[in-house]
Amino acid sequence: MKKLNITIVGGGSTYTAAMLKTICDYKDKLPIRKLALYDIDEKRQERVGKFAEILIKERYPEIETFIYTTDKKEAFEDVDFALMQIRSGGLKMREKDEKIPLKHQAVGQETCGAGGFAYGIRTIPDFIELVNDIRKYSPNAWIINYSNPAAIVAEATKRVFPDDKRLINICDMPIAMMEAFSTVLGTTRQKLSPRYFGLNHFGWFTALYDETGKDRLPEIYSFLKEKEILPSESEMLDQSWQDTFKQLAVMVRDIDGYIPNTYMQYYLYPTKIVEKSNPNYTRANEVMDGREKRVFSMLDEIIEKGTIEGSPIQNGVHGDYIIELVTSIINNENKIFLIITENKGAIENISSDAMVEIPCLVNANGVEPLRVGPIPTFYKGLIEAQLAYEKLTVDAYFNNSYNDALQALVLNRTIVDTPKAKAILNDLIEANEGHWPTLKRNTKDSL
Ligand code: G6P
Ligand code: MN
Repeated sequence: MKKLNITIVGGGSTYTAAMLKTICDYKDKLPIRKLALYDIDEKRQERVGKFAEILIKERYPEIETFIYTTDKKEAFEDVDFALMQIRSGGLKMREKDEKIPLKHQAVGQETCGAGGFAYGIRTIPDFIELVNDIRKYSPNAWIINYSNPAAIVAEATKRVFPDDKRLINICDMPIAMMEAFSTVLGTTRQKLSPRYFGLNHFGWFTALYDETGKDRLPEIYSFLKEKEILPSESEMLDQSWQDTFKQLAVMVRDIDGYIPNTYMQYYLYPTKIVEKSNPNYTRANEVMDGREKRVFSMLDEIIEKGTIEGSPIQNGVHGDYIIELVTSIINNENKIFLIITENKGAIENISSDAMVEIPCLVNANGVEPLRVGPIPTFYKGLIEAQLAYEKLTVDAYFNNSYNDALQALVLNRTIVDTPKAKAILNDLIEANEGHWPTLKRNTKDSL
């Protein structure tokens, strides 16, 4: 098999170490010639890079070249796979995305509501620039995107690179849910095949087939009606993730229907979420005080000892999923993955240009969506409003339009109220100076 060149874009991420560990575990299925880390934050990436040198020497010495760099040419030349996990503005801006809406009694979340909106407008230009750079040096590379807010990134890149079949957007939330479900079912996630529809961070499971073809979702459904399912994922030990999974059971008990993605809590229970949130200490703080410190001190310790032996490094669902996807492409495995892709009739009664999250076959030719068919009114209504929000957010960026931005926020279920939307938008504009384009106000806005 041809040996691959892989670049991780966002090499300084807290997720990179676990992803590298997965790469080593998969070495028989994933032959690598060159592995590169790329980041704009040299200092942060260096700690991951020094750790990676030790890991690769001990666990995957067959990799001929390993580099970590801030140079695009070095990172993007002759690449087969670019794995994208950037965070525009870093965790410091995530903190603002979460805290500003909360100040106005609106949900403050990384990817949902006004927080996701702010993060989206920041990410679009950075992401487009990176895709252009990668395409310049490696026109045929597969670009696998994990960067958030994936819904907004997917809508924006669809507009700029409409014919790019090698740009694939994915999310691990349904996969983390499946990990938890598989524990309840006494099986493993890899033996389960999901049926699911929606938008990114806005969808529902409709079936979960095991290796015999039996749908096991009804068992999960009955279980959730009685008990809670907690995350079994090592990356989700923090209290906020435990609470999120507890809310899944509440959602299933309140409204009969399909099993929602955990992110639906922000849209279906916005009042409760705001009441439970601490406006002075959000998930960004939890991550900066928790995962970020944990991961980087572990890396520093490994670097000091010069070996990964005895270190608590674990795989995570985040890295596992992306590597499973890569192997399905290179080995033409035709496995089913949930992918954010252009609808084109898969969900029959949703517009054909929507970027939907649905099961797809993944093989050497890329992504082939499975048909979902028509969806019931409740889901259709929710999805269409959210879709309009997503499109208007991307419109706001490309048109530099204050009015598009305001319409987006008014449409978002976590906001709704126009004066509230306006107040949040004005604060976000101030906080994102230097990150956002200038949004032009037209006469309607000043009325
Ligand atoms: C899930 C989602 C990701 C999101 C992450 C946030 O994995 O699918 O899109 O970025 O959660 O996790 P964090 O632990 O950073 O809050
Ligand atoms: Mn996600």
